[in-house]
Amino acid sequence: MSIRYIESTRQLILETAHTSYQMKIDGMGYLNHQFYGPKLGQNDMSYLYRTYDHGFSGNPYDMRNNRDFSLDSMPQEYTSFGVGDFRVNSIASSCSDGSRCAEFRYEAHEILDGKYSIPGLPSVYEGDTQAQTLIVTLLDTAANIRIKLCYGVFDELDVITRTAEIINAGSETVWLRKASSMCLELPFGKWDMIHFYGRHCMERQPERVPLFHGIHTLASGRGMSSHQHNPFVILCDHEATEENGACYGMMLMYSGNHKTEIELDQFDSVRVVTGINDDRFRWELSPATSFHTPEVILSCANGLTELSHRFHRVIRNNVVRGQYKLSHRPVLINNWEATYFDLNEEKIVKLAEKAADIGVELFVLDDGWFKNRVDDNAGLGDWIPDTDKLPNGLDGLIEKINAMGLRFGLWVEPEMVNEDSDLYRAHPDWAMTAPNRAPMMARNQLVLDLSRQEVHEYIYNTLSDLLTKYNITYIKWDFNRPLADVYSHAAPSPRQGEVTHRYYLSLYKIYDRLTKAFPHVLFEGCAGGGGRFDAGMLQYSPQIWCSDNTDPISRLTIQYGTSFGYPVSAIGAHVSATPNHQTGRLTPLSTRGTVAMMGAFGYELDLTKLSDAELDEMKAQIARFKELEPMIHNGLYYRLSSMEDSGCYFAWQFVAPDRSRSLLSIVVTNPLANAAAIHLRLKGLDPDATYSVNGEFEILGAALMNSGYTFPRLMGDYPSMQLDIIKVK
Ligand code: GLA
Repeated sequence: MSIRYIESTRQLILETAHTSYQMKIDGMGYLNHQFYGPKLGQNDMSYLYRTYDHGFSGNPYDMRNNRDFSLDSMPQEYTSFGVGDFRVNSIASSCSDGSRCAEFRYEAHEILDGKYSIPGLPSVYEGDTQAQTLIVTLLDTAANIRIKLCYGVFDELDVITRTAEIINAGSETVWLRKASSMCLELPFGKWDMIHFYGRHCMERQPERVPLFHGIHTLASGRGMSSHQHNPFVILCDHEATEENGACYGMMLMYSGNHKTEIELDQFDSVRVVTGINDDRFRWELSPATSFHTPEVILSCANGLTELSHRFHRVIRNNVVRGQYKLSHRPVLINNWEATYFDLNEEKIVKLAEKAADIGVELFVLDDGWFKNRVDDNAGLGDWIPDTDKLPNGLDGLIEKINAMGLRFGLWVEPEMVNEDSDLYRAHPDWAMTAPNRAPMMARNQLVLDLSRQEVHEYIYNTLSDLLTKYNITYIKWDFNRPLADVYSHAAPSPRQGEVTHRYYLSLYKIYDRLTKAFPHVLFEGCAGGGGRFDAGMLQYSPQIWCSDNTDPISRLTIQYGTSFGYPVSAIGAHVSATPNHQTGRLTPLSTRGTVAMMGAFGYELDLTKLSDAELDEMKAQIARFKELEPMIHNGLYYRLSSMEDSGCYFAWQFVAPDRSRSLLSIVVTNPLANAAAIHLRLKGLDPDATYSVNGEFEILGAALMNSGYTFPRLMGDYPSMQLDIIKVK
């Protein structure tokens, strides 16, 4: 049993293999948070909390004679608002009488076998592990709002999920102005925040900063989880390292606007509130209806490596769905950086022939294949093959590609429309534009209003027709601009604040319908590279194009940052041309291969321009990747270098689940003259087993982990090396 209720102390205890989470219903009916951390057993952690008379922190009316009791200092599972807890709150609403407050007290709880699901939203599922659900119901009797706090407890995975269902229990409409998924309190300790910021072509850059007093906000209001701020954050001890120290990870499983607020308050307590971004959010909650918030995935661990492993495991096994989640991902070639829009059947066939020769398994036809798509000014919305470029149609091309033994994949950007398109000319009101205002343009395109049912059906039918008509086994689903001028021409004015969330409910539903109707199709998410790299998207697309930056040296930081929360199998990574198209940098093919092997591996360059020696090297890379893929994608991933080392080198290691094999990769970003040799301690091996190191010598795992390995001098432009570590006895 992972969830217990202790009647005598009114404690609710959640337990996973290595962690405990405690809450307690106090005498007033408030649901207090008590503890989240390493496993504790049944100890009642209320001894930790002492209450004092805190000046300027008021008291609930029925406790007015006890000035020690204040909502402003109590750790809570989900906060009230407008009634004396002045820290960041979980919810904000207004009632029909104009009042803007609510105070929640415990009403009931239930413990259920299995994991709850959230209507219309992606969420972690049980798969072949087991979970239990706790639902605690809170009620505000004046505003008539009931909240069901749901906790999914995954014992084996050391993961707890959370969501809140907010119900209008009265007879008047309630307006939700903020509806967070969770509040998590860390009442004691000194914390660093690690977050993942970025920009187009430089996503998920890790930054570690000590929390200072005030409210830290990590958010996206771009209508996408964004290149700028990923919906994943870690709080860890000041001293925490890869191996040691308390680390908490919080990942919002949502692809739209999000906000995480972290407050270090006047009493040195930390409160984290995370969920849908409340800026421009307003939801009409009619009587007897409810609002479901997106899921948060929580884990805590000793050390950053263990924390990452828990997120990798849960995403790989319990977030990603479908036949590709743990199985082989086809090695692909994508024509984008080879041809851009200037494609035709002849060029594509030549590229595909070279690709088939070196062992590529899937050809992906990128942007430019449809009518009027000679550049990015026109065409989006009209998904009809361009017979000028493809005189034998898409089916003629696919037949040729299939005849070479390659599968065929197609790029689409279904959520978008160009003004210069038949779709826009027929339905200008399907695009999101605000009345009497010229819209913001980005890449000459507008965003379709997916909150409208007819747009939902149009997109579903377009994709379903393509997948039915053609032999397509892979879709690259792109999304190349943020949402602005958010307005639905079909929604009444008071409900415009619902449009962005309704957009995502509709998008998830399209994905859900398509993945069920076409289970053999592998979807790769993309949003100008990694602008929608989140656990929500990963439920439907097992891999996501990690960045439009294919320079291996830039990719080192992007992939390093991504690895804190997301598994290697989720990271779309390609070998591209040198000099690189985004940075102009020259790098060796071996280094490009080494870096792209930390992901769902592929190529994106004009193979017809390469020498036989280069093609031979690629052939060897593909063969090697295919052999090592089960370990790379489904084994354990270790970061061997830190952010401080990154100015000189990056190193990482894959270890097979049974520790029989490992691959260490190192890329030197700045070779230093006459410097000490790079020396690293390996991780995750069996200490008692003997391993062969690159076939050169044999040594105990304990030696490699405790004494390490000294690298030969790696000189030149961005040299790299891979070390094969194979158990011999
Ligand atoms: C986006 C993607 C690229 C490519 C182009 C095509 O930028 O991230 O990989 O598909 O669109 O227009």
